Amino acid sequence: MNVYTYSSNTQLNEAAAGLIAATLQQKPNAVLGLATGSTPIGVYEKLVEMYKEGKISFKGASSFNLDEYVGLPRDHSESYYSFMHHHLFQHIDLPEDKALIPQGNTNHPKEECTRYDQLIQEAGGIDLQILGIGHNGHIGFNEPADSLSGATHVVTLHEETRKANARFFNSIDEVPTHAITVGMAAIMKAKCILLLVRGADKADIIHKALNGPITTQCPASFLQLHPNLIVMTDSEAGRNL
Ligand code: PGA
Repeated sequence: MNVYTYSSNTQLNEAAAGLIAATLQQKPNAVLGLATGSTPIGVYEKLVEMYKEGKISFKGASSFNLDEYVGLPRDHSESYYSFMHHHLFQHIDLPEDKALIPQGNTNHPKEECTRYDQLIQEAGGIDLQILGIGHNGHIGFNEPADSLSGATHVVTLHEETRKANARFFNSIDEVPTHAITVGMAAIMKAKCILLLVRGADKADIIHKALNGPITTQCPASFLQLHPNLIVMTDSEAGRNL
């Protein structure tokens, strides 16, 4: 595990975008695992900037997003489909049919999970997985539980997660109760994982995830077992590391 703590958000964004750019330079058809949430937004901004400057191309790449709410239409402003288009996809040359996100607005979410896992497998797995971490230690929407699922699956969101995400909706009642998330297997099988953490409110959970016991009650703790984990934090989140 390599942990890097940056004194500014700009430095963190540059370092993370630089790693993604290096991955694409080495392997133009790299498979990227992408995350939503507030943490990666600055990194996506930096990638867009690099693309516009001609320093990076996503033409040969493909991507799989970690998760999507169940029951929100794709064009809902808070769907992860909308998030990714707004922050990244509409600005870069990643082919539309190669930018994959679980389809949450379906009557058959279980079939969608199976289809999504097949697509990841057919793509040869994830080369570089970008992750954020939830305050409860979730990665993707793999929430703390007595057991975790390897496969992509439908998950009931914890109240804490719904509360954290309510800031993007008019009220907590509008936050979906379920999501589709890539499971622990596709994440742990990624050749490289880049975990991004920002803010004082994440200092305790990242310390616990990286130094505490490996337990299903903190899904991010399993990242300790990954052979190629890179953690990038700002100085507030990294103050206990
Ligand atoms: P955040 O979410 O980036 O908005 O803090 C991270 C997560 O819940 O995985």
